Amino acid sequence: MFTIEHDFDATVVTLVDDPASHRQEDVIINAFEDCVTIEQLEPTTDRLQRVTLSMAQLRTFLPLLTCPRVSTGCDPIGLATGLALDLRPLRPDMLVNRKRDEMPTPNPAALEFLRTRRSRPAKTLTTPVPSRDALRPLLEAAARTPDHGKLEPWRFIVLERDALLRLAEAVRARGPEIGIEPEKVEKGALQYADAHLAVAVISAPKPSDKIPEIEQVLSAGAVCLALLNAALAAGWGANWLSGWASHDPEFCRTALGLSPGERVAGLIHIGTETSAPPERPRPDLVAITTWVSA
Ligand SMILES: Cc1cc2nc3c(=O)[nH]c(=O)nc-3n(C[C@H](O)[C@H](O)[C@H](O)COP(=O)(O)O)c2cc1C
Repeated sequence: MFTIEHDFDATVVTLVDDPASHRQEDVIINAFEDCVTIEQLEPTTDRLQRVTLSMAQLRTFLPLLTCPRVSTGCDPIGLATGLALDLRPLRPDMLVNRKRDEMPTPNPAALEFLRTRRSRPAKTLTTPVPSRDALRPLLEAAARTPDHGKLEPWRFIVLERDALLRLAEAVRARGPEIGIEPEKVEKGALQYADAHLAVAVISAPKPSDKIPEIEQVLSAGAVCLALLNAALAAGWGANWLSGWASHDPEFCRTALGLSPGERVAGLIHIGTETSAPPERPRPDLVAITTWVSA
C-alpha cells in the first residue's frame, strides 16, 4: 500500500509501512527506451535500492502523480517493500536523469542564442569594430574554454587594420613563391585587405605525457567557436576563416610570427554586420545521432 502527496517542490510517494520520516537520499531516475528505473540509497544497509517500471506500469503510475492525493490498498506498480520515494515533479515529458536537489536552472536566452546563432560573412563586415576595451571581455570568454590539463595550448594575435594591410601584402608576395594561382592569391589577400579587425587563434600544443596533441588542437578549435559566439552574442558580426596562407608555415612564421609547432586554428573576423545572411541548411540530427541506451 502506498500514498502519493504533492508537496511544494516534490511529489512524495510513501509506502505506508515505512518509517514516519522520509528518506533524504538522492533519488536517481533513469529513463530508458523500454523502462524507467528509480534508485535510492538505503542508508541503513548502504545499498542502492532500485525499482524498475515497465512502460505499462509507468502508464498506470503517471496519472496518479497528478491526482491531488492518492491512497491505494494495492501495489499496482510493484514497489519494493521498504522503499520511500521522494520524487521531484515527475511528468511523462520530464523523465530525465536527475538527482534530487539538482534541478537545472535554465537560461532560455543563452540556449536560444546557441540554437539560432550564425556567422556573418566576413565580406559583409564593416566598421566600427570593437575597441581594445570591448574586445577584451570577448577574448576572456574565449579563453574560458575546456582545456585538458590546463595547458593553455593556444594564444591570440589581435590583427588591427594596419597589420591586416601588411598581411595582405605578405599574402600577395608569398602566393607566387609557392605556385598559388593568381586568383587564389588575390582572394587570399583580400581576406586581410578588406578586414578591419581579426583575431588569429593560434594552436600552440605544449609537450605533455598525459594530454595527447589532438586534444590540445581540439581545444584551440573550441576557442575559435567560443570567440565567434562571444562576438555574435555581443552584437558584432563575426566569421571564422582560414585560407591557404594561414596553413603555409613560412607565411605563419614570417608574417604572423608563429613559433615552430604553432598553427593558425582560425582567423576570427569581427566587425559590424551590414546584412543578416539567410539561414543555411543545418545537419539532419537523425542522420548524425546514435542513441545508445544499453
Ligand atoms: C576551421 C574553419 C575554417 C574556415 N575557413 C573558411 C574560409 O577560409 N572561407 C570561408 O568562406 N569559410 C570558411 N569557414 C566557414 C565559415 O566559418 C562559415 O561562415 C561557417 O561555416 C558558417 O557557420 P555558421 O552559420 O554555423 O556560423 C571555415 C570554418 C571553419 C570551422
